[in-house]
Amino acid sequence: MDSYIDLKNITTEELKNVDLDRVNVACSPPDLEPQRQYYFMAKCRQIVKSESERLGRPLYACTVTMGCQMNARDSEKLTGILLAVGYEEATEETADFVIYNTCTVRDNANQRVYGRLGVLHGYKRRKPGMKIALCGCMMQEASVIEKIRKSYPFVDLVFGTHNLFKFAEFLYTALVSDRMVIDIWQETDRVVEELPCERKYPFKSGINIMFGCNNFCSYCIVPYVRGRERSREAEDILREIRGLAGDGVTEIMLLGQNVNSYGKNLEHPLTFAQLLEKVQEIEGIRRIRFMTSHPKDLSDDLIRVMKQSDRICRHLHLPLQSGSTKILRAMNRRYTKEQYLALVEKIRREIPDISITTDIIVGFPGETAEDVEETLDVIRKAGFDNAFTFVYSKRTGTPAAAMAEQVPEAQVRQQFDRVLRTVQETARKQAGRLLGQVEEVLVEEQNAHEESLMTGRLSCNMLVHFPGGRELIGQYVTVSLDECRGFYYMGKRR
Ligand code: 5AD
Ligand code: SF4
Repeated sequence: MDSYIDLKNITTEELKNVDLDRVNVACSPPDLEPQRQYYFMAKCRQIVKSESERLGRPLYACTVTMGCQMNARDSEKLTGILLAVGYEEATEETADFVIYNTCTVRDNANQRVYGRLGVLHGYKRRKPGMKIALCGCMMQEASVIEKIRKSYPFVDLVFGTHNLFKFAEFLYTALVSDRMVIDIWQETDRVVEELPCERKYPFKSGINIMFGCNNFCSYCIVPYVRGRERSREAEDILREIRGLAGDGVTEIMLLGQNVNSYGKNLEHPLTFAQLLEKVQEIEGIRRIRFMTSHPKDLSDDLIRVMKQSDRICRHLHLPLQSGSTKILRAMNRRYTKEQYLALVEKIRREIPDISITTDIIVGFPGETAEDVEETLDVIRKAGFDNAFTFVYSKRTGTPAAAMAEQVPEAQVRQQFDRVLRTVQETARKQAGRLLGQVEEVLVEEQNAHEESLMTGRLSCNMLVHFPGGRELIGQYVTVSLDECRGFYYMGKRR
């Protein structure tokens, strides 16, 4: 047994290179994290290996991601662990292990999960060894857990957003048990670093800089399911980015529900602008993006740092939600229509080539045709490059759900169409503004419909399709933007 590794003697830095097949799992699991998770990865690895030998084929795992960039990042962590324990990655939901990383921002996302669970049940009937897991924001709702317990007893594993770092341990329990394993935490102040992660793209990556949200916009369930705002230590973020740069990542996206309030609760407070200044010094990082900005916290310092930087991308996602000051107040957004417009004007004055995108909700309780008129006015004046328009969704437990004047569905539909049309008009106008220019793109992938074309992303986040080969993936190339087709360009290499 001498050649076996005892994880209790291994430092966190050494863990990444540990050979899981040599880990001693005959002893009790370590208490320390993330060592404990590596111990369970080693245990899972044995099970996956013997099951695979029994079946005479590899075992497959499929991670399905719903919702935002934060979930996409979390899914990379889930996949990282699944690959580390010996599964092969699959895209089909007929795999041996299927996990849904769910979103609950709007109710239709929840309904979709229930619908798809029915389909998964069918697969599982035909494949008894199959395991089904659910995690993500939807699982932080008590009513959801109740429903899954009662109506979907074939689900094997359920966990939430606060204890995702324990996935390897849960996976082990689910693999050795026939009962539904449920573990949901209400809160956490823990951030466990240095777990495996399988990036979707080798050249770009998201990085969490903070978790949770303290804003309590009255329609939004996020503060309840993701908990209070917690920033990661700058040194940890910078170390992670340096590591990614060392792995060949050149574009990063700093992630948080409200990145503009980054650093407030740290022992040594640091602003988001100051963090960006440090990030852009990291060698090898050519492009920096971030998501999402709350208008009420966007500082002049941030505008200055963006303006002076040739690495921070020319794109800002700045959710408006509504153009009516009355509705904004009811939403608890803490800015007025005029303040939002003044902010956009200031940003455009300082950084003329910036692209500004937004989120808009239609049908918030009490919203009248006049309120929607105000939203249309802001859309025209701000000249958004793109906007995601959502129908208001009533989320149980949020203040807005208890508001008296819920808007009838037919009226919401009508107003939604008006907003969408106006958004499309301004976006089309804005989209064409780089026509004829030669710009740098980061090549991301081969075009899904036309093999001879490659797809690259501009600093402003728009896509360009141009003739080229797969060897360009991950490279920066200059292309002429010859034709604008709504939300993307057709171009040629220069
Ligand atoms: N209904 C509709 N849209 C919502 N969003 C958040 N909560 C709701 C809701 N209850 C939208 C907001 C936010 C985006 C991520 O989702 O526009 O910016
Ligand atoms: Fe939700 Fe508002 Fe927080 Fe965004 S800022 S996550 S909309 S509460």
